[in-house]
Amino acid sequence: MNILVVKANNRPASEAVSSKMYETFMEEVKDVKGLNVTTFDVFAEDMPYFGQDLFNAFGKMQNAEELSDVEKRILAAKQKAMDALTAADVVVFAFPLWNLTIPAKLQTFVDYTYQAGYAFKYSPEGQMISLMPEKKAILLSARGGVYSTPEAAPMEMAATYMRNVFGGVFGMSVEEVIIEGHNAMPDKAEQIIAEGLVKVTEIAKSLSAEPVNA
Ligand SMILES: Cc1cc2nc3c(=O)[nH]c(=O)nc-3n(C[C@H](O)[C@H](O)[C@H](O)COP(=O)(O)O)c2cc1C
Repeated sequence: MNILVVKANNRPASEAVSSKMYETFMEEVKDVKGLNVTTFDVFAEDMPYFGQDLFNAFGKMQNAEELSDVEKRILAAKQKAMDALTAADVVVFAFPLWNLTIPAKLQTFVDYTYQAGYAFKYSPEGQMISLMPEKKAILLSARGGVYSTPEAAPMEMAATYMRNVFGGVFGMSVEEVIIEGHNAMPDKAEQIIAEGLVKVTEIAKSLSAEPVNA
């Protein structure tokens, strides 16, 4: 089973809870036979922002024109992200909630892979058809406040966004471990984090137990 782990926090695990979730997951899967685990570190990758440079590059490719440096970089980076996702049976995202949403580097990974004809398509009747129903996405996310209450949930645009993209549009089955409230309730922080990390371990263990494409 190919597991792609998208690491989306470059803060050290001693300080950042979602980095600790990443490390905990990796520790659990590293020696498991039959799991081929690859990390895609979005902060370490050269990933120019999605925008007109990419569309210019597509146009130039079609007309066999010379690409600029940034156009070459964005085409290569987009292809690399898509190839990594294509090869994965399971994709794990370890990410924080920052400013109510995901880090910009992770947004760029989404922008690179969110492509019609690759992640989804439309039927002749105009219905969206997801193209990755055989893959599984695991969301490992931390957020300092509490967003799981009905009043606060609409403000949460990190895990909710990732679920909508990889579950709702790409069609993957989605599982998640969320650690939340450790900043809002400092006296309970240690316990909240410890319990969440146990859940990360459990979800990692479950991968060795049941192959997705069996
Ligand atoms: C730049 C930054 C922005 C943050 N924004 C929010 C926020 O909008 N709401 C919130 O509840 N916590 C916020 N936090 C706290 C994080 O959600 C918390 O640290 C959590 O553990 C995820 O980030 P981490 O993995 O980097 O620790 C923020 C933290 C940082 C470093």
